[in-house]
Amino acid sequence: MKKVYFVFVAFLLQTTVLFCAELIPLPFDVEVDDKKVQLGKKLFLDTILSKDKTLSCMSCHNLKHNGADTVSYSKGIKNQKGKFNVPTVFNAVYNFRQFWDGRAKSLKEQALEPIQNPVEMGHSIPNAIRDLKNASAYVKAFNTIYEDGITENNLADALTEFEKTLITPNAPFDKYLRGDKNAISKSAVQGYKLFKDKGCISCHNGINIGGNLFNKFGIYGDIGSKEKGRYALTKKEEDMYVFKVPSLRNVAITAPYMHDGRTESLAEAVNFMVMYQLGRRIGDEDLRDIVSFLESLTGDLPKIVKDINVTN
Ligand code: HEC
Ligand code: HEC
Repeated sequence: MKKVYFVFVAFLLQTTVLFCAELIPLPFDVEVDDKKVQLGKKLFLDTILSKDKTLSCMSCHNLKHNGADTVSYSKGIKNQKGKFNVPTVFNAVYNFRQFWDGRAKSLKEQALEPIQNPVEMGHSIPNAIRDLKNASAYVKAFNTIYEDGITENNLADALTEFEKTLITPNAPFDKYLRGDKNAISKSAVQGYKLFKDKGCISCHNGINIGGNLFNKFGIYGDIGSKEKGRYALTKKEEDMYVFKVPSLRNVAITAPYMHDGRTESLAEAVNFMVMYQLGRRIGDEDLRDIVSFLESLTGDLPKIVKDINVTN
C-alpha cells in the first residue's frame, strides 16, 4: 500500500514537470551589511568557537574549495565522527531549510548548532560567549555594530550575514540561461533536456536546483539508510527516510554524495537517483549527458573568500 502511494506521488511529481518553469540563474550579488559580514567572516575562520580551540567552521566547510569537505564524515573535536556528510555552505542562503533533515528553519537558527554539537565543535554557547568576551578584538568589533555587544543573537547574526555572501554565481549553465548558448557543451544541453524530461527537475528545482523541498530517499526500493531523516524529528511514519532534496549547484566538486556520503562519483550518484527516485534505467550516453549538465553547475568561488589563506 505504502509503495503504491509513493509510486503515485512520484507519478504526480513527474507530471508536474510538464508545468515546471525553467531553472533560473543565481544573482551576482546579495544585499548585506558589510561590517557584520567582516565580523562573521572572522568568526567563521576562528577556532575560538570550538571547545579545545582546534576547529573552526572552515575546518569542515572549506571555503577555498567547495564550502564542504571531501570525506564522507568530517571529524569533530577529539576526532569524533558525525552522522552526516557535510553539505556545502555555498548558496545555503537559498535553501528553504538547513541540515539534511531540515531541522533549522534559517541560517540564523542553524549557526549556533555546530558550536554546541558534542561531535563537532563541542562547546557551549555561554562558554563561547565568555571566550569571545575575553578577546578584546571581538569586544570592540561587536560593540561597534551591536548596541548590546557580544550576545548569542549577535553571534548568530554575524555568522549568518557572512554566509549570505557565500554565493557562487556565473556557472557556465547560468551563462547559458542568460543567453550565451555556447557557454555549455552540446552534451550538457542534452543533459539539461534529460534532467527535465526524466523528472529530476520535479525534485531538484528553483534557484538552487534543489534545497526547496523534502522528499523520500528511496521511493522505488529500500536504500538501506541508517539515518531515518525527518522521522527522527516527527516520529511520523510518512517521514521515514525523508530528507531535504539537496541543491545541485557545484555538485561536481562536492563528492562524496548523499547524506551519508555513500557515492564517490557523480555518475554513480545519478544512476542511483534514476533507479531509486525515478524507478527507471538509463543508458550510458544519457548518463554522460546528465553528468555533463551537472558539471556545468560549478560557479565562481564567492568573491569574499579570495583573500582567505587559512587551510585548516
Ligand atoms: C566538524 C565538522 C563541522 C563543523 C566544525 C561545522 N560544520 Fe556545518 N555542517 C557539518 C555537517 C556534518 C552538517 C550536516 C549536519 C546535518 O545535516 O545534520 C553541517 C551543516 C551545516 C549547514 C547546513 C547546510 C545545508 O544545506 O543544510 C550550515 C549552513 C553550516 N553547517 C554552517 C556551519 C557554521 C556556520 C559552522 C561554524 C559555527 C559550522 N557549520 C561548523 C559539519 C560541520
Ligand atoms: C523524487 C525526488 C527526486 C528525484 C526525482 C531526483 N532526486 Fe536527486 N535527490 C533527491 C533526494 C531526497 C536526495 C538526497 C538523498 C539523501 O538523503 O542522501 C537527492 C540527491 C541527489 C544527488 C546527490 C547530491 C549531494 O550533494 O549529495 C544528486 C547528484 C542528485 N540527487 C541528482 C539527481 C538527478 C540527476 C536526478 C534525475 C535523474 C534526480 N536527482 C532525481 C530527490 C530526488
